[in-house]
Amino acid sequence: MSDALCAAAVAARQFAHAPFSQFRVGAALEDSSGRVHTGCNVENATYGLTVCAERIAVFKAISEGARRFSRIAIAADTADLTPPCGACRQILWEFCGDIEIVLVNLQGYRESLRLAELFPRPFDASFLK
Ligand code: THU
Repeated sequence: MSDALCAAAVAARQFAHAPFSQFRVGAALEDSSGRVHTGCNVENATYGLTVCAERIAVFKAISEGARRFSRIAIAADTADLTPPCGACRQILWEFCGDIEIVLVNLQGYRESLRLAELFPRPFDASFLK
């Protein structure tokens, strides 16, 4: 079902720039036309300027005109499947809404869940009206 998207996330992980943590993550975000936008984490010597794989995928997609999304796969080499961090949950909610999230590891273990399960009661633009 999510085979190709998971494979894209695993493949994107190979480009991770993670010299400080050695923790490599890949993401693959599918838009409503079926196009896949990939990302990997890109670390920085200041640490705080590091950007996660998920946000890179979202920002790449937005910058190329995509606006509606269906699923994102997130790949890391952890036995306990790696979920998106808090900052990424906020960005995913803002740009993708309650999308399907597929967590995958290099052994092929997978879990599928919705963003609303991971990120209940979000702050978003509806509060700014
Ligand atoms: N990281 C991601 O790219 N995505 C996640 O879901 C969790 C964390 C990155 C950020 C940093 O480069 C490294 O993993 C360790 O936190």
